[in-house]
Parts: sequence; C-alpha cells; structure tokens
Amino acid sequence: MRVPDFLTIRDFTTDELLHLLSLAREIKADPARFSGALKGRTLAMIFEKPSLRTRVSFDAGIQQLGGFSIYLSPAEINLGKRESVYDVARNLERMVQGIMIRTFAHDIVERMAEWARIPVINGLTDFSHPCQAMADFLTILEHKGRLGGLKLAYVGDSNNVSNSLMFAAARFGTHVAIASPEGYQPKPEVAAWTRAEGAATGSTLLVTADAAEAVAGADVVYTDTWASMGQEAEAHARRQVFRPYQVNRELFAKAKPDALFMHCLPAHRGEEVTDEIIDSPNSVVFDEAENRLHAQKAIMLEMMR
Ligand code: CP
Ligand code: NVA
Repeated sequence: MRVPDFLTIRDFTTDELLHLLSLAREIKADPARFSGALKGRTLAMIFEKPSLRTRVSFDAGIQQLGGFSIYLSPAEINLGKRESVYDVARNLERMVQGIMIRTFAHDIVERMAEWARIPVINGLTDFSHPCQAMADFLTILEHKGRLGGLKLAYVGDSNNVSNSLMFAAARFGTHVAIASPEGYQPKPEVAAWTRAEGAATGSTLLVTADAAEAVAGADVVYTDTWASMGQEAEAHARRQVFRPYQVNRELFAKAKPDALFMHCLPAHRGEEVTDEIIDSPNSVVFDEAENRLHAQKAIMLEMMR
C-alpha cells in the first residue's frame, strides 16, 4: 500500500479503502486461499485498554494467515513509563513484522508509526477506531449492496467510533447524521474534514442535538457506549445527559423499516440501546464483530506482506 501504516481512515483514498473492502470479501469467501499469505510473520499486539473483539480478531486473523501474534498487556510494557514509545518501537522492529496498538492518546500511535520501521495498525485510540469503521462499512455493504447515497445516523457520544465512521462515510459517499447533546458533538476539525472531503463523493454531514431528526429515514442507526474506556469516572453523570439518546423502539421506528441497527460493542443494554432493538432482526451487531476478522485480515495482508 502507498501508506505504510493503518492509523486513520483519513490517510487513505476512496479507491484504497474500496480495495481493502473487496479484499476482505475475497478473504471471507475463501479463507483457505490466504492461509499461507503471512507465513512466519509475527504481529506484536500492544493493549493499554481492555478488549474482546480486537484482541481475538487480530490474534485469530494473523494465525489464519499463517503468522503468529504476541499479546502485550499494559502490565508488560507500561508504555511511556517503563519504556519510551521510541525505545519500544526500535526494539519491536528488530523482532516482529508488525505492531497493532490500542492506547489512549492518538499521538502515541503516530509516534510509534514514525519510529518503527514496520507497519503500525491502530486498534483504537481516544481519537479513532479505523478497523471498526472498515468492518462496519463491510457489514453495510453486505446487507445493503452499496454504500453511496445511504444515510447513517449515529446517536450518542461523539467519540473515536463516530469519528472513524464520519471519515469512512466521507470517503464512501455515505450521508451521516450525528445526534449528540451539546458539548458532546463532533470536534469542529472532524466535522470540517468530513464536510470538505465528503464533497468529492456526494456525502453530507448533519450534526444535531435532536435524535429523532438524525434517525428520520436512516438506512443505518448506530450507537456506542455513553462513556468510553478512560471515562469511567464520568459514567454516572453521562447517563443523565445521554438518556434522551437511547436507541429504543420509539426512536428506531423513525428510521426506514429495513434499517440496520449497528453497535461496535461492548453494549450497555438498557442504556444506549434496549434489548428489543439490539436483539431485533434489524440488528447486525454480531456481523460487525465477525467482520472485524475479515477486514483486519485484509489490512494485515496489505500492510505486512
Ligand atoms: N469493538 C471493539 O473494538 O471491541 P473490543 O473493545 O472488545 O476490542
Ligand atoms: N467508544 C468505545 C469503543 C469501544 C470499542 C471506547 O472507546 O471505549
């Protein structure tokens, strides 16, 4: 790939992202064909936050491609405290062929990529979650047969997940409507980038505090936790602020009848989404989880081979 690291959707062109989606579909359709594609290559996985899907999908994914993974927990590396990001990067590049990192500040991932002369893949920062967005748009494509011209409504906290969805939507020509309370709406630079780059693909952006307005006529209704990892102390206060943004039967009914319900998971049932919506036939949350595997196999293949 032209870009050596997978840090943010913004670094990639529409064609490059469509290529990754199409490769992911090929891998999903015939995994055996790719079983030796990364034979003997090793991925170091640095986790400074908890994970189920990211850890399992990268670990299973690299093994399915013929490679190996090494899981590094916060206790092992203690990034920036026991050892600097620079020194970790310069050590790992001598031993492995790729680094996946989940951390807090986005600049840690950027510095790791700057200093490590091996590919670095962003497995979530406070700013973005690009692998999630790739799996999500793969899921939308599978269910809707297209991405351009669809309307994706994101309801809740503007966070790493919504940032990456906005970037991907701009690249894929998908309209986005974000409904978040005042003070929790997308950062101006994220909204400005999405509007400016979306102009090239016909994607538009609406930001509102009115959940019903955002969901009206949507093809996809997406939500995420009201308190992300690292915001645990704010969880109680946020529950009050976000209550009107719960995706429940009444809100979901404003979307198209065949709208998809999406969530990156983990879900807090009874908070951002009710059981009847996440367990409804419209919900594709476990398809999204599965597609992390296929999308990331495509990303690893392009970055590490
Ligand atoms: N969606 C997602 O990234 O899940 P994990 O936090 O479990 O990896
Ligand atoms: N916004 C959530 C996503 C978890 C996959 C978080 O950062 O905790």
